[in-house]
Amino acid sequence: MIEPIKKLIELKDKILEKINEAADEKTLKSVQEQDLSKKSSLSGMMSLISSLSGEDKITFGQAMNSTKKEIQEKFADKEKEIHEKAIKERLEKEKIDISLPGTTYKMGGINPFYQIVDEMIDVFTSMGYQVKEGPDVETDFFNFERMNIPANHPAREMQDSFYITNSTLLRTHTSPAQAHAMDEANGRPLKIICPGKCFRRDDDDATHSHQFGQIEGLVIDKNINLGNLKATLELFLRRMFGEKREVRFRSSYFPFTEPSVEVDISCMECHGKGCPMCKGTGYIEILGAGMVHPNVLEMSGYDPKEYSGFAFGIGIERVAMLRYGVDDIRKFYQGDVRFIEQFTRK
Ligand code: PHE
Repeated sequence: MIEPIKKLIELKDKILEKINEAADEKTLKSVQEQDLSKKSSLSGMMSLISSLSGEDKITFGQAMNSTKKEIQEKFADKEKEIHEKAIKERLEKEKIDISLPGTTYKMGGINPFYQIVDEMIDVFTSMGYQVKEGPDVETDFFNFERMNIPANHPAREMQDSFYITNSTLLRTHTSPAQAHAMDEANGRPLKIICPGKCFRRDDDDATHSHQFGQIEGLVIDKNINLGNLKATLELFLRRMFGEKREVRFRSSYFPFTEPSVEVDISCMECHGKGCPMCKGTGYIEILGAGMVHPNVLEMSGYDPKEYSGFAFGIGIERVAMLRYGVDDIRKFYQGDVRFIEQFTRK
């Protein structure tokens, strides 16, 4: 065998061994640079051809080609092997054991107070009411004057509040939202409810709280009468407390309505016979309402000869307590999960 071919075989064996030993892509790449590129040891071999003549030149040329081919094939095989191994390793490493128990997340719940608010809003919006909110911080003007409760009016006594300045306070009822809505309506008819917070200086006990929720209702148009108010509230109360509830209207007094009524429903415990829940009366007081006072209409830009309206104010906690049998108003605010969880819709 001619000398250059021997050298070629030696080099080939060395390169094949290197390829064989390469365990990762990086090593294989360096073998490629060193031994397979144009400037590699293998290409360098080509220069030997000039020292040969005739037959030998041809034999060497052929040997060179078959060697290159063999090395390239081996290289490709190795490349494939390393690549497949890497994928396998990665799959192994990133394997997820789907038989492991997952992380359980505790679902939060909606406070029963807000569940009742949502329910009441649903009932009224289904009757065509729009929802409007008023500010929690009110001026004396809106909270009292516009509600026909001038300075020194005895009705102010019952609604003492938390004052921010001499003339601004945390609103004592949602009724001032009526005045804001009427100002905005600019003499046009209105059919709104205004849910929100109210604040009063009060005892904090099982049935009183310095903060509570109300839903105000107001309808203004031509020919609105007490019959409309009655029908609306009967429908609302039967939706909330059941079709069997008797609804009773008693005359009452609010400075911003005339006539005014207090509305009761027959006791859900004894159905009107009298029990401790209704204090023996057979009825439970639910809300205050009445026909919007002409003074209020006039102050709000409506001609009382042409327009009339009714208004009502519903205590949210009171409705929630009756619906869910909650015996202490403070439970709505304490954030005790043992309480809240009982009202979580599963
Ligand atoms: N604003 C009254 C209150 O807080 C309730 C009420 C509203 C009464 C609307 C009549 C009409 O006691």
